Order: sequence, then structure tokens, then C-alpha cells
Amino acid sequence: MEKLIDESVQGAALLLDKSIKNSRKLYIESYGCQMNFSDSEIVASILASEGFNTTDRLEEADLVLVNTCSIREKAELNVRKRLEKFNAIKKNKPHLKVGVLGCMAERLKSQLLEEEKIVDMVVGPDAYKDLPNLVREIDAGRNAVNVLLSKEETYGDIAPIRLHSNGVTAFVSITRGCDNMCTFCVVPFTRGRERSRDPQSIVQEVKELWNKGFKEVTLLGQNVDSYLWYGGGLKKDFDKATEIQKVTAVDFSDLLSLVAEALPKMRIRFSTSNPQDMTLKVVHTMAAYRNICNHIHLPVQSGSDRILKAMNRLHTRVEYMTLIENIRNIIPNCGISQDIIAGFPTETEEDHQDTLSLMDHVKYDFGFMFTYSERPGTMAARKLEDDVPEAVKKRRLEEIIALQRRHSLYRTKKYLGKIEEVLIENSSKKSDAQWMGRTSANTVVVFPKEGYVIGDFVNVKIMDCTSATLLGNAVGLSENN
Ligand code: 5AD
Ligand code: SF4
Repeated sequence: MEKLIDESVQGAALLLDKSIKNSRKLYIESYGCQMNFSDSEIVASILASEGFNTTDRLEEADLVLVNTCSIREKAELNVRKRLEKFNAIKKNKPHLKVGVLGCMAERLKSQLLEEEKIVDMVVGPDAYKDLPNLVREIDAGRNAVNVLLSKEETYGDIAPIRLHSNGVTAFVSITRGCDNMCTFCVVPFTRGRERSRDPQSIVQEVKELWNKGFKEVTLLGQNVDSYLWYGGGLKKDFDKATEIQKVTAVDFSDLLSLVAEALPKMRIRFSTSNPQDMTLKVVHTMAAYRNICNHIHLPVQSGSDRILKAMNRLHTRVEYMTLIENIRNIIPNCGISQDIIAGFPTETEEDHQDTLSLMDHVKYDFGFMFTYSERPGTMAARKLEDDVPEAVKKRRLEEIIALQRRHSLYRTKKYLGKIEEVLIENSSKKSDAQWMGRTSANTVVVFPKEGYVIGDFVNVKIMDCTSATLLGNAVGLSENN
């Protein structure tokens, strides 16, 4: 009898606990790559089942999570500044808890608890399913850390809660981690070994998005071309797979076909492609399906063979140019964008000129350009002196950006007078009377709203342009609606 009473008291305590939990508010902020924004949607889903509702208002939060980026030093400094702000809020709200997620959590581990007194919880990118336990720990007044990396975790079984969504475009992650070991990059250390997600769960997620009215998905991975599903397991262990697993394996091009066929009206994008892993099979698949967008984000990092080698990019300048030529032969109007790093260790003026001449050759539509930032623990940090002076890095970066701007304008001007299919995503940032959307090649288009609505595929006649934006007028709905 006594035991029964005990249990009912415990039950009541649990109920009370749940009702407290149900009223709790989670504020989650994401930095860095698209994968982090996508991960935050997984985190929101995991904590929703613990009774946390997300909020956009920092001041009403009970739990603040920062999903962090370590790719460059500046990204980490930004997060540390943000933590100061949370610290100020906590002064008036002592019950506020703060957790650091993502790459900084993985890189710095419990050191973060010592360096940033405001932080209660540190959770690496593969440990989000442990969040319910970790939150219980911090509720009990203890700090909590889980930075274990996994060989299997893909979160394929978690239905993300879409955050800050326009209801039209969404990210769907397909691989996690990276095995490439580019010498400048901290990602293999913070996100672990590469693994692929079950294609059926990917197709299912895209179907669910379509049923909710979404019109475009971006398949995400650090290196999408390396996607390989043979029943689970690390990419590097594929050699050990059975014959049946080898025959039925799904590579990235197969995955693209699967998704494109399952949802023939859904626009499909993907990012990021790695030149050394991208196959022509993928390019042919892009050409074969109308709904796969004609855009490839193909980081090159440098145009110098010597620097590419020092970066452990496993392709040469000529191989990269051949890939571009093949892409343009197969998809003549394909948008191509880049990432470039200025001032990698030992980079000479001649190496820099090689980067500029490669850019002149490709004439990218747009790009993301950075000065080199040494990351602790990477091969470059261990073996090479960060010897290009900061002023030289900056000047080279400015030259790269200026050249890219000219190339972008060259590309946008080619659209003048043409009609492009645009998917409306949002109101234009500059004018509430205009819509903003993108072409298949990922170029931004702005045009008067008239009677169209978010989510419409509209044919737009391009009348004017800047280097970053096309300006036009709608001529009618496209046949894709
Ligand atoms: N310094 C500067 N840029 C970097 N990137 C990755 N690591 C570094 C670094 N240590 C850039 C690369 C990559 C993009 C995501 O970030 O260009 O493609
Ligand atoms: Fe980093 Fe290279 Fe992997 Fe990209 S491909 S995440 S740059 S290691």
C-alpha cells in the first residue's frame, strides 16, 4: 500500500513537472553554414517533445541555445560577443539557462564552461538526441556536456520543426561530417566522419514538405557528391560491404533522381559540391530533370596548383577547368558559384594571380570569399606558418571581390530581355511592393507584386540588373504551378 501511495505521489510530481515544462520557452540562434540552421530545426523538434516551445523573443526565453560555427576565428568571436549579451540578460533573470551547440561546442568542449561563465551546457553536433537528459542535468543545477561524435547519427528519424520559415523553401540534410581533410578546415574535427542518411527517410521528408506547401528543397551536406547509402555505415567502410549492398547502393546522382521523380514539381537544389568528388553522372542527372535547379556551388579555394596541393584539395587547376567545361557543355546556362580563400600560408603574388586568372576563365555567377584564418588543430596550423601578412591577405581579398563583382555583372547582364521562371520566396527587403525570388540558376530576382503570392512560380521578364539582382516584370504564372 505504501508503495502505491509513493507511486501516485511520484506520478503527481511528474505531472507537475510536465506542466512546468510545457510552459517553457526555447530561444535558438544559429550561426555559420546552412547545416547549422538545419540542425537547429532538429534541436527544436527534440526539445518540443520535452515541452519546449520556440520563441523569437529573447526576453521571454527560459533556455537560450546558440548553434555555433568555428570555420573562421571571427565566427567564434561573434558568438563570444553574443554570450556577453546573454550574460547581461541573465543578471535580471537568474533562472535563464544557456547552452552552446555545434562546432564551437565540439572544438572547445568543457573548456567553454571555464572560459564563458554564462554557459551551462555544451553539446556537439552528434549529441542532440541527448538534449532531454542534458536539460534535466542543468535543471538540477549542474553543468552538462556531451561532445561525443558518432559514426551513425544522421537524425534521419527526427522530423525537423521549421524555424523562421517562409513556408516555401526548406533545407533537408543528406550527409553529415566530412572525410576530405582539407588542411585549412576545422569541419572534419567538429563534425566527424562522413555518413549518409537513408534515402527513404530523405524522400519521406521531402514529401512531407510538399504536402505542407513547400516548393523548393536544398539537399545539404558538407560534400554532397560523396553521398553513398548502402544500408548505413561510414563511407570509408564501403569496401567491406556485401555484394548485394554494393549492387543496391544509392549514390548522390541516384538520390537526386529518386527525389526528382517522387516530387516532379518540387524544385531541388543541393549544396555543397566538391570538385574532386563531383561526377558527370550527377551533371547528366541535373540535365535530365526539369525540377533539379541549374546551379552548382563548386568551391575552388585557389587557382594555384601549388596552393591546391598544400590545401590537400585533391584536384588540379586543369581538372577543375575541365569539370567546368563539361558542366557548361551539358547544362549551358548552369549557374556556378565559388568559395575562395585569400592568403593561405606560403601564397605568393603569382599564386594569387593564378586565382584571379582562374576566376577570369570561369566567370562565376557569385561567390563567398574570405581571408585565411588559422584554425587550431588543423593540418595547416600544425605544419605551415600563417606567413601572409594580414594587410596582404586583405588586399588580395579585395581584388578577388572586385573581380567577382565584375563577373557577377557580366552574368546578370546576360539575362536582360529574357524571361525566367522565378519561385516567389518573400517580400523584397528594399520594398514591400515587390516580391523576391530566384531563378533556377539561383540568381535573385525582384519584381512588382501585382496579384501573385508567395510560393507562386512566375515567369518574369528581366528589364534591368545590378551585379547581385535582376529586376523585372511578371508576365504570368509559369506552367509549373
Ligand atoms: N579560413 C578561411 N576560410 C575558410 N573556409 C574554410 N576554412 C577556412 C579557414 N580556415 C572557407 C572555405 C570553405 C567555406 C565554407 O569556408 O572557402 O569552402
Ligand atoms: Fe572542410 Fe574540405 Fe570538408 Fe569542405 S570539403 S567541409 S572545406 S574539409
